[in-house]
Amino acid sequence: MKDQIGKLIEARRSAIENSDLPESVKSMLVRHYELSVEGLKIIAEAGIFKELNDLRVKYVGKSGEITSLMKSLKDVPADKRPLTGKFINELKTLFENAISEREALLAASERRSREERESLDVTLSPPATTASSRPGALHPLTLVKNDIVKIFTGMGFTIVDGPEVEYTKYNFGLLNIPEDHPARDPADSFYITPDILLRSQTSCVQARTMETMAPPFRIVCPGKVYRPDEDATHSPMFQQIEGLVVDKHVTLSDLKAVLEEFARKFFSADTKVRFRPSFFPFTEPSVEVDLSCAMCGGKGCRLCKGTGWLELLGAGVVNPAVFDMCGIDSSVYSGFAFGIGIERAAMIKYGIPDMRLLFDNDVRILEQFR
Ligand code: PHE
Repeated sequence: MKDQIGKLIEARRSAIENSDLPESVKSMLVRHYELSVEGLKIIAEAGIFKELNDLRVKYVGKSGEITSLMKSLKDVPADKRPLTGKFINELKTLFENAISEREALLAASERRSREERESLDVTLSPPATTASSRPGALHPLTLVKNDIVKIFTGMGFTIVDGPEVEYTKYNFGLLNIPEDHPARDPADSFYITPDILLRSQTSCVQARTMETMAPPFRIVCPGKVYRPDEDATHSPMFQQIEGLVVDKHVTLSDLKAVLEEFARKFFSADTKVRFRPSFFPFTEPSVEVDLSCAMCGGKGCRLCKGTGWLELLGAGVVNPAVFDMCGIDSSVYSGFAFGIGIERAAMIKYGIPDMRLLFDNDVRILEQFR
């Protein structure tokens, strides 16, 4: 390349010398062609854009050397101007080409080094996670609730929802809970007005469902309930999953089969289920359902207080009086209902001794349930 330019300049020099230009013009042109050898060499070696830009200003800028050479054309006799101009223009082109060539080279090498700098090694392991970049996870109670719901939807139950701020009519009246029942006492429920309260059980959704849906149906309703209790096994807010099946010929043994299936799926295949007689105004007969202790397998331990059994839920056959109040023909349909405590289920499954651990949201505890 340099050689080529050298040869070109040599050729131009003799062309200038052999031309009929005035001696003064000839010597001016030759001098510039000679100086250009050095100038072009500097351009070809410019290391950074800034340097190259300075050289552009120096040679072909507004008052650069070649530009001012152009201006001196006016001192050349008119008939010699075209040829003189041709030589000057050629020189100008030589500089401009040299500059843009160098510019392209610099740009390419800059791009290459940037690419090297910014290249990613996708095989490297990610940086260690910090407290703020730790991924989130579902709360253990949400996990347990999801597990329970999944088992029932797997048995053909559909999920329904109901309000947490509820009329006493649904929380008590339609559930056959008489006016003088202790559960209605203001000390046992959070009343908002005499007719409205924070629901104390998800059983209200039973009444709402029976009022609006035509049997047969199988529903579960997970949700929050509220009672003014607080100790290691009670919280003013806790969650239940209500279940209700209404169809023809539904019996207590269907309830038992469904709950046994649930217990085996949710706890373990060898979990035993025990029914104890109990009382709820909305079920008749009513039962309290115990499971063989998840910790000791029934031998008796601290968790089950030596009994080998853990109480999990209340259930029963729907009281025909409830059907009558909710507009379902009790001579045609029967049903069963159950209410599982979600916190209780979580405590039994994971051997958690104090319900408050589930609400304190201590990450050391939460992390164990990922
Ligand atoms: N609602 C009852 C409770 O909170 C549980 C229950 C639900 C009992 C359905 C029978 C049928 O204790």
